Amino acid sequence: MDIQELKNKAKEALKTASNLEELQSAYKAYLGKKGEVTLILRSLAELKPALRKTKGKEANELRDFFKDAFKQRSKELRRLQSQKQKNRERIDVTAPGKRLQEGHLHPLTQVQRKAQEIFQAMGFVVVQGPEIETEWYNFDALNIPADHPARDMWNTFWLKQPENSKFEIRNSKFLLRTHTSPVQARYMETHQPPLRIVVPGRVFRYEAIDAHHLFNFYQLEGLMVGKNISVGNFKAVIQEFYRQFFEKPVSIRLRPSYFPFTEPSFEIDMRFGKSDWLEMMGAGMVHPNVFKTAGYIPRQWTGFAFGMGLDRLCMMKYKIPDIRLLYSGDLKFLQQF
Ligand code: PHE
Repeated sequence: MDIQELKNKAKEALKTASNLEELQSAYKAYLGKKGEVTLILRSLAELKPALRKTKGKEANELRDFFKDAFKQRSKELRRLQSQKQKNRERIDVTAPGKRLQEGHLHPLTQVQRKAQEIFQAMGFVVVQGPEIETEWYNFDALNIPADHPARDMWNTFWLKQPENSKFEIRNSKFLLRTHTSPVQARYMETHQPPLRIVVPGRVFRYEAIDAHHLFNFYQLEGLMVGKNISVGNFKAVIQEFYRQFFEKPVSIRLRPSYFPFTEPSFEIDMRFGKSDWLEMMGAGMVHPNVFKTAGYIPRQWTGFAFGMGLDRLCMMKYKIPDIRLLYSGDLKFLQQF
């Protein structure tokens, strides 16, 4: 083959080699043991001296040229390859980040904390009590003796009494508290008025389940005792609470009701604008018998107490149609809050 032609072919082969392996095989094809340039170099021996001289020079030049070109191309390819690698490993600081799944407080907890904060700002202290309660605090201390028909107002989960229990208090049986009111009695036993407390907590009732009832739910109890505390004080506190909680004006109304531990007792209804009245909670002025049991002198003190359902409040705030959703642990539901 013509040397010039071979040179062009070899040049092309080097140029089209797109990686180091391809370049290596091109090198082999021309300068390997049986490569085209090698064969020419070898065949020189058979030529006549005159021809050998010119052909030899050309062939050597071709070999040198090829070796050079090969070196250059392989440098180039190596550079390209490391560039590619770098591009692959480059960190794009402008790329959008991966969002990490972040947990948050349960809607009921959010509502509880918000309610607590509003009352705390009005000078109420947050107090807690046990979920396993004694018959004494849940009933007797709240002016509901054993044979009182009002006990039927709370369908109670009674607990099995451990035999010879050391923990039995005043002969009273254990139960799951049916309301947060026993914490009123516990607190007054150890604190002197004036006082303002709120008590958030879980309560239990032996009831059939539907969209509005569960065997457990959350309440926020309130108690304010002092000199000359009146229904007017109660109304003002509660109205302000709802206004801050729902962040819009509300009207409330008191309807006569009955609880053994308050006198008078009422049910509180609430509404926005001219919408329907919604029943929100039970409340009343602390009954003198409750003060007596706590060791207060009834004539010296007056106070109001209330117990609101936090689930109810939460369902209203977020327009949740079924209380069971709050206890489902369903992330699709919970992630909305
Ligand atoms: N403890 C009552 C209930 O759960 C509510 C209540 C609390 C009523 C305080 C009056 C005063 O039904």
